[in-house]
This record gives sequence, C-alpha cells and structure tokens, in this order.
Amino acid sequence: MLKPNPFTPKSGLEPKAFINREEEINFYFKRVNEAIHGNINHYIINGAWGSGKTSLLRYFKLLAQGQDCSGCYFIARELTENISDMEITAHIIQSIVRNIPYKLAKKNSKLLKLIDAFGIQILGSGFNISFQIDKDKYIDPQIFLADGLLNIWRDISKHTNLLVVLIDDVQNYSKAKRIFTLLKNVLSDKRIIDETKILFILSSTIEGWKPFIQINHPIGRFFIPRMELSNFDREKTIKLLDEVLKDTGVAFTDSVLEKIFKYTEGHLFQTHSLGSALYDNQKNGMVTDGEWDKGLEEAMFYLGNTVYEGIAEGISDNEIKIIRALNLFGNNKLNGISRKVKISGINVYLRRLVDKGILRSLRRGEYEFNDKMLGLYLQNNRNNK
Ligand SMILES: Nc1ncnc2c1ncn2[C@@H]1O[C@H](COP(=O)(O)OP(=O)(O)OP(=O)(O)O)[C@@H](O)[C@H]1O
Ligand SMILES: [Mg+2]
Repeated sequence: MLKPNPFTPKSGLEPKAFINREEEINFYFKRVNEAIHGNINHYIINGAWGSGKTSLLRYFKLLAQGQDCSGCYFIARELTENISDMEITAHIIQSIVRNIPYKLAKKNSKLLKLIDAFGIQILGSGFNISFQIDKDKYIDPQIFLADGLLNIWRDISKHTNLLVVLIDDVQNYSKAKRIFTLLKNVLSDKRIIDETKILFILSSTIEGWKPFIQINHPIGRFFIPRMELSNFDREKTIKLLDEVLKDTGVAFTDSVLEKIFKYTEGHLFQTHSLGSALYDNQKNGMVTDGEWDKGLEEAMFYLGNTVYEGIAEGISDNEIKIIRALNLFGNNKLNGISRKVKISGINVYLRRLVDKGILRSLRRGEYEFNDKMLGLYLQNNRNNK
C-alpha cells in the first residue's frame, strides 16, 4: 500500500522527519543549561525564506517541555510605523501570556493584578487574553515591560526552571525597530537578570536583521551569536529525502535524488516541493528520470504560486535574455554570456540582476544564480507568455 505524500512543502508544517539540526540543538541545550544556572544569553537565528526557522523554533519548544522548562512560541506581528511604545510592550506581554503553557487566573496571578493596577483593562482569558490600553493614560513602556516580565516569571516560577520565549519572524517588527531597543534595555535590567529566568530566542530573515549586523550595533551585539540556517549539503539533502521516503512504499532512483540536490542546492522548502511533486508522479512505487520533467514542471508551478509570484513582472526582456543564457548554457562567465547574447551595455543588466538578488557576482565577470529554481522559473514563465 502506498502511503499519502509524506513531503511538507508548507511554511511551518512540521516535517515528517526533523533532521540535520544537531549543531543547532546542541547549541540550544548549552544556552538553556547556562540560563538555568543564571547565565542568560539571548540569541537569534537567521535564515532565508523556507530555510527551516519555524520548524526549528517549534522543535525548541518541544525540547523545552522535556527539560522541565516552559516553551512559549509566537510569530511576531507586523507592526506599523505609528505604533506607540506602550502598544509594542503590550504586544510582547500579551503574546507571552497567550502562549505559555499555563493559564493565569485573575484571582491569583501577580501579572494580571499588576496590569489591573496600571489601569489596563483585561479582556478574555488564557489564549484569548488581550489588554485594552487607555490612550490618554501615560504608562512608561519600559517599566511596564520590565514589571510584566518580572510578574510573568513570579507566576510560573514554581512550575518551571526556565521560560524560553521563541519569537518567529522578527523581521515583521522592521517598521518599529524600537522594539528591540526596548527589549534589550529591559533584558539588561538588573532586576530581570537577578530575579527571572527567561531566555529569548528570535528568528529573522537575514535581510530583516541586516540593519543590526553593522559593526558594533548594540542590538546586533546583544542577540549573539547569530546562528545562520544555510541550505543542506548533498549528503544531508539525500538523507532528508531518504528519511521522508522511509516506509512509504515509494523510492526515488539515485539519479533523481542527485538531480533534486542539483536543482534545489539543498534549499529545504524547494526540496520538499520538488520531492512532493515527484512523489505524486510515482509509477509502481518508483520515481525515475522518466518522471523527472513532469515532477519538475509541477514543482515550478507550485513554487510559482506560493513564493515566486510577481517576481517575473519586475524583470526586463534583456534581463530575461541573460537569465536564459545562464540557464541554457550553464555558463557563468561574462565573456561566455556576451558571446551568446548580444545586448549592448550588458553590464548594466547584470548589475540590476545582482541588485535584485537574482544573480550573485563571484569574481569579475563571473555570475551565478542565487536560486537556480527561481532562474528556471523566470525563464519558463516568459517562454509560456
Ligand atoms: N530539519 C528539517 N528536516 C526536514 N525538513 C524540514 C526541517 N526543517 C524544516 N523542514 C521543512 O522545510 C520547509 C521549510 O520549513 P519552515 O517553514 O520551518 O522554514 P521557514 O524558514 O520558517 O520558512 P518561512 O520563510 O516560510 O517562514 C517545510 O516544508 C518544513 O516542513
Ligand atoms: Mg517560518
């Protein structure tokens, strides 16, 4: 009997086999153990789209629960530029309260009493709790955040050794970067350091974290080290495919496995998308080179709908000619490209493709795709029009 498709090409969908994260998990345990002993060092995980940030943070939450710690996971909400500092801090406190594995009751929760004392109205409870802040009333946001964290800890400390707060996609805070300064100030507060055990682990795209990576930026320096999730290498990609296919009754030939790596270069979301499309095309439990083209086409279509949508519109005809030359001839040297495509001022278009993040320049006159599947998608997308 064939099993249902085991690939999970969806953001944040828990993979059937969660693998190849030994380094990240060891580092996590190291930080958690230090934190339990009072030495708390918050850090951030950076990774491109579909590189596995959400799955990793969710896994950390599970690990926390196995260690007499409490995990609290949430996705950073898009913040607008005009949001007030008080609304920002309320967002953090509210998100933590909604996602900790304990329900705070109004009659004995120190946090809820504190909020009440600040004159903030508490609506709902548990997962639906929200705070209604009276805009005319001034509350110092930093004090509110510090007291809030302090009292969350007081409420739960009898049940747990450590609270691990996992905030996913903090690039969503990019319009209100002050949130990081607020957080840093509060987490450096002596009372928080001495009286609480809360470890923050953030995740962000690299783009979103760039402003803080500049030399000596205090925020960048505070959430260190930056762990970067890069693509899987060949061996790890094949291991991923093997693990996902295990016990399904479907096998991919070695040639297909190699090709998946060649095309996706070990990008997680792409590997799952291509694996999934090929799986759907299996014949008698096998996926061979005969199924490749159809599977690839379907994976392209899927990636087009889920991630690449709209990118093609921003690419000029001359840029497409270059993309096609790179795809068709596999030639990444400028000399090679300019021999195949006759475009005057080709350097300008190459530069634009680099600025758009589609190509990267290796050495003078040599280029390659940042994302081969995107290159192929752009080429096919134009061919079909
Ligand atoms: N360690 C892993 N082993 C196998 N598959 C994984 C692993 N981590 C993530 N995946 C799979 O890879 C894909 C991308 O994962 P995930 O959604 O966690 O990435 P992300 O960086 O959060 O992406 P996004 O940019 O959409 O937020 C999903 O299909 C997920 O099931
Ligand atoms: Mg994610």
